[in-house]
Amino acid sequence: MNVNSFDTLLKVPTGVLQISDLLPTSMDRDNEGIHLSLVIPTYKERDNIQNVIRILSQLLDELIPKDYELIVVDDDSPDRTWEVAQFLTREYPQLRVMRRQKEKGLSSAVIRGWQVARGRVLGVIDGDLQHPPEVLTQLLSGIQQGADLAVASRHVEGGGVSSWSAVRRFLSRGAQVLGLILLPGVLGRVSDPMSGYFMVRRRAIAGAILNPVGYKILLEVIGRGQVNEITEVGYVFCERQEGESKVTWKQYIEYLHHLLRLRLSIGRSGRMNEQTGFPVGRFLRFGLVGLSGVFVDMAMLYLLSDPTTLALPLTRSKIIAGEIAILNNFFWNDAWTFADVSKKQQEWHQRLKRFLKFNLICLAGLILNVLVLNLVFNFIIPNRYIANLIAIAVATIWNFWVNLKLSWRVTDVK
Ligand code: GDD
Ligand code: MN
Repeated sequence: MNVNSFDTLLKVPTGVLQISDLLPTSMDRDNEGIHLSLVIPTYKERDNIQNVIRILSQLLDELIPKDYELIVVDDDSPDRTWEVAQFLTREYPQLRVMRRQKEKGLSSAVIRGWQVARGRVLGVIDGDLQHPPEVLTQLLSGIQQGADLAVASRHVEGGGVSSWSAVRRFLSRGAQVLGLILLPGVLGRVSDPMSGYFMVRRRAIAGAILNPVGYKILLEVIGRGQVNEITEVGYVFCERQEGESKVTWKQYIEYLHHLLRLRLSIGRSGRMNEQTGFPVGRFLRFGLVGLSGVFVDMAMLYLLSDPTTLALPLTRSKIIAGEIAILNNFFWNDAWTFADVSKKQQEWHQRLKRFLKFNLICLAGLILNVLVLNLVFNFIIPNRYIANLIAIAVATIWNFWVNLKLSWRVTDVK
């Protein structure tokens, strides 16, 4: 009888969170390994687990029969999810179950699962059906076509969230922007760095000592692995039908902790790595468009507020002039700087969305501009024009980078 001898739980690996290059030997008589190991981390998913296993098995039995395994890693759920999963192994021979009693946490659960995995490709999917299983097909083919990492993303064509509150959307995006600032070379490489639904080649992360805190395992994979080619597949994050999310304010603190830790340990190498490179041409075009905005702003200010023209009050004129300049910049950026991206998203609601984002980001840029000006002028260089130049430069880079990543999403998609 092989490792799936019924009712046997997987042994929980101990020690460092490191995935070996070789497939674990003691596990199987014929040790050639298999194509895919898909880990399903669970905590209190008793009402979901059976459906999840059934749907995933059906799908994978068609795609890669017998060439996959499902590994449920349960953190000793009080609702005994692990027991239900263990029972299911009788019906699903590709299923293996781990019950962790000493460790906790989503990310480490995933890695412990990968440590006992026999697959050449390692994947993860939530155990609550919020990640649509059909997407596995595209993730698999992304890897087949040569990607080291295939990520299911809410933020590329075909992706989205079903009905998140404005607050949750805002928090999610805020977390992403914060990450972009702290770790541009990691978070900048994918459109949805918070995704918990992806596949990675074993060899891309073998040997690296992973050290995650909290929920966001993908950051760790990109930050510490040797991931060259990345492909992304759009998916809609479904509503939960059963059970409840385990996300609390604590996960936001952990996320921050995780970012800082990664930032410190990967240091400079984590910055805009060679494959990504800084898009110089695009940045120059963005800068030129920005310059044209200055002229538009000036001209409008003249037309609106000059005593010889309309003579409107200054503040009102400036707000209108500024917004028209933003409109000008948006137009040129959409038609020129990011033409390759906007060509693919031409519907008017997509354009409007980009425009609103551009506006918000520019507004934040303006605030940053004022802050930096004050900081530099008061504490570093007491010359207001030099300080202003520095402030403009910082705000321009901010505007460019965040718009690049959020408004005109240019990621390393193949
Ligand atoms: N083993 C284990 N240990 N599993 C856990 C733990 C834990 O401490 N906490 C959560 N899980 C499991 C859940 O049972 C579920 O299968 C999956 O991890 C995701 O947890 P949820 O609590 O449902 O997370 P969510 O739906 O709010 O967040 C998801 O959304 C992100 C996108 O914003 C997560 O799946 C992220 O991975 C995903 O990227
Ligand atoms: Mn969920």
